[in-house]
Amino acid sequence: MKSACLSLLLVSVCWALPFRQSGFMDFVMEDEPASGDGPGPELPTTRKPHVERLPMMPEGPEVPFCPFRCQCHLRVAQCSDLGLKTVPEKIPLDTTLLDLQNNKITEIKENDFKGLKGLQTLILVNNKITIIHAKAFSSLINLERLYLSKNLLKEVPANIPKSLQELRIHENQINKIKKSSFAGMANVIVMELGSNPLSSSGVDNGAFADLKRVSYIRIADTNLTSIPKGLPSSLFELHLDGNKITKVTADSLKGLKNLSKLGLSHNEISVVENGSLANVPHLRELHLENNALTAVPAGLADHKYIQVIYLHSNKIAAVGTEDFCPPGYNTKKAMYSGISLFSNPVPYWEVLPITFRCVFDRSAIQLGNYRKK
Ligand SMILES: *[C@@H]1O[C@H](CO)[C@@H](O)[C@H](O)[C@H]1NC(C)=O
Ligand SMILES: *[C@@H]1O[C@H](CO)[C@@H](O)[C@H](O)[C@H]1NC(C)=O
Ligand SMILES: *[C@@H]1O[C@H](CO)[C@@H](O)[C@H](O)[C@H]1NC(C)=O
Repeated sequence: MKSACLSLLLVSVCWALPFRQSGFMDFVMEDEPASGDGPGPELPTTRKPHVERLPMMPEGPEVPFCPFRCQCHLRVAQCSDLGLKTVPEKIPLDTTLLDLQNNKITEIKENDFKGLKGLQTLILVNNKITIIHAKAFSSLINLERLYLSKNLLKEVPANIPKSLQELRIHENQINKIKKSSFAGMANVIVMELGSNPLSSSGVDNGAFADLKRVSYIRIADTNLTSIPKGLPSSLFELHLDGNKITKVTADSLKGLKNLSKLGLSHNEISVVENGSLANVPHLRELHLENNALTAVPAGLADHKYIQVIYLHSNKIAAVGTEDFCPPGYNTKKAMYSGISLFSNPVPYWEVLPITFRCVFDRSAIQLGNYRKK
């Protein structure tokens, strides 16, 4: 039975909009296949409706309730994978999630999202967007998630709503992050900027400083040569893997008191300045594999919380007995759960067992060169 269309709510809408009815039926058939009866005889196509308008619904029969070929249901407008070249018109004004991914949209125009005051999630992933009008988002006063990955954007869009909590804009052509790009965006929690042609000179000092609540920033697989300056102290995870960073300066991590995970693998780091680890007192995971380190970073033995430290595939030629553990026994607060040192010039038989005297779980240590990566 087509119970969806039988409910008073939907029937009212069907009948109020006779010229869209076939489209609506297509939607119902796709979305909720009949349970064997085929289209039931109860489904009226000619009978004059007795219209009972619901207060939430747009007035007047000329207002279509969903763009052609999209599916609109429970305030979700689903318009993905339709080969669309532009944002469709007449998206229901009460939409909270608009999915336009996997289309061929090239441009976002000034009025494309006009009036969508309730929109919380806008998905534009995998289109061909090169331009977003500076006022395109001005109606979206409740937008929380903006997904723009896999497009051809050369810059971060202007005037992103201040309500935004999550911005994903990886795999674009962005080569500049200006301080103004994120001005006043105090609600952002997640920022994903990876796989863009960014270099350190293209990132303004303090570009992220206004993100007072951000907990996750990922700028992986770009051309950064240093850790961006002036990162917010709220950061919990920072992923900068796959860049061209040559050095970890103590200064770059200053004030990151809450940082728990730091990803710096696949860079060109030869030095971690002494004092770097002291600036991130709550760090639990540090990924430094596939770099050019010649020594184990200083400060691990004194660090209270570090549990995972990946150092494989570097140029470490010697490991000292106090590199990981403080002098004496049972003096380390947190337990190591992962230490990797394989694929370094140091022969594993030259690393003395007492080096890991504070590691209680021996399987946490990956030392030999047997592990291929
Ligand atoms: C980084 O720079 C190199 C050389 O200039 C370039 O070939 C490469 O595409 C850049 N990488 C990214 C992610 O932009
Ligand atoms: C650090 O984390 C704690 C606990 O989650 C939180 O209360 C505090 O506000 C955070 N500090 C900053 C600077 O965000
Ligand atoms: C790092 O700095 C601390 C404190 O200044 C010092 O005691 C220690 O010897 C230094 N370690 C290295 C490897 O330079």
